[in-house]
Amino acid sequence: MEKHIHGGAPQHEFQRLGIPPHRIVDFSVNVSPLGPPRILFNNWNNLIGEVLAYPSVNGDGIAEYYVRRFGLEYETVLPGNGSTECIYLVPRVLQLKKVAIITPSFHDYERSCRLCGADVSEIVLSGQNGFAEPDYDTLARNLENADAVMLGNPNNPTNTMIPRESILELSERFPDKYILVDEAFIQFLDDFKERSLLNPACIRKNILVFHSLTKIYDIPGIRLGAVIGHPQTIEQLKDHKEPWTVNGIAEKTAEMLIQCRDYESQLRKLMRKERRRFVDKLGTLDGLRLFPSHTNYFLAHWQASDNLDDLLRILLSNGFLVRDCRNFRNLSDNYFRFAVRKAADNVELISLIKRALKMAVK
Ligand SMILES: Cc1ncc(COP(=O)(O)O)c(C=O)c1O
Repeated sequence: MEKHIHGGAPQHEFQRLGIPPHRIVDFSVNVSPLGPPRILFNNWNNLIGEVLAYPSVNGDGIAEYYVRRFGLEYETVLPGNGSTECIYLVPRVLQLKKVAIITPSFHDYERSCRLCGADVSEIVLSGQNGFAEPDYDTLARNLENADAVMLGNPNNPTNTMIPRESILELSERFPDKYILVDEAFIQFLDDFKERSLLNPACIRKNILVFHSLTKIYDIPGIRLGAVIGHPQTIEQLKDHKEPWTVNGIAEKTAEMLIQCRDYESQLRKLMRKERRRFVDKLGTLDGLRLFPSHTNYFLAHWQASDNLDDLLRILLSNGFLVRDCRNFRNLSDNYFRFAVRKAADNVELISLIKRALKMAVK
């Protein structure tokens, strides 16, 4: 059985590298560095009331967020206990037999497909061309031989983006195949409105979009997300989904997040400025290749020595954790990912990476 493989596991890294555990700045998880929006702290005590009653059967509070934030129809949204629940629900309910997945990518796409018995084929992105997106013909060829294609847009960890127009074109050309798009990080993009499928005009019978509220608002512990699609497909998913998987606190939280547009704008502004810092300071150094980012994370290739641990050890002993990507498919050759955080943390990470580079090149 496939194992869970995710970032945010400092204990494992302390043990592996033989470093005594201590407090860390966690660059290994891709969440907003601003912390949860203030409105949640202000209303935290009121949320206790939600434990006294059952929540709505289908997580209506989360659906309300998507209706009000993106102008989507209620019938096009199925909330989940994080988008992860939806990523596992969809291949099972649609009874997919063969899925083409763009890799390297978020591990749970493949796991969810394999768990429901589907074969998985890969559309492989290559570091040699900067993990550029596959062209339309490649996508079409792969979809022709599968029931569905599953992809992250933007892709985690490579930042690869498939144009919205290509997805809509594929959907029209292959009406009997599904296109499953994970937009967990889309709200971090400056131009997400022009790129996202979370738009009433982009609803199609064979497109399903996964979306997460946990990254953008830094609330991974509450578990909020959804799958968005045509009312008929959403109804089919609802018919097979367990009731009450979204808890009452998550529902109420989602309703409060509708008021957090300023938080989002502030976050995108910070990301813009800090992405530039990383590109300026790390973009042209010997021993490191930094891949372009328009989100809140960068993928990088450690080339200064033949073992990424030379970098990880220096970072972790100074209290900094990044995501070792060697257990992603096709990234075993010393790739790592780090989140974009606030200025002071980023400055320190940059200086430690530079120190590690100097030491490795000596
Ligand atoms: C690309 C991607 N999609 C989905 C998820 C799951 O997010 P959620 O917290 O909504 O389950 C993650 C979590 O790391 C992710 O990286």
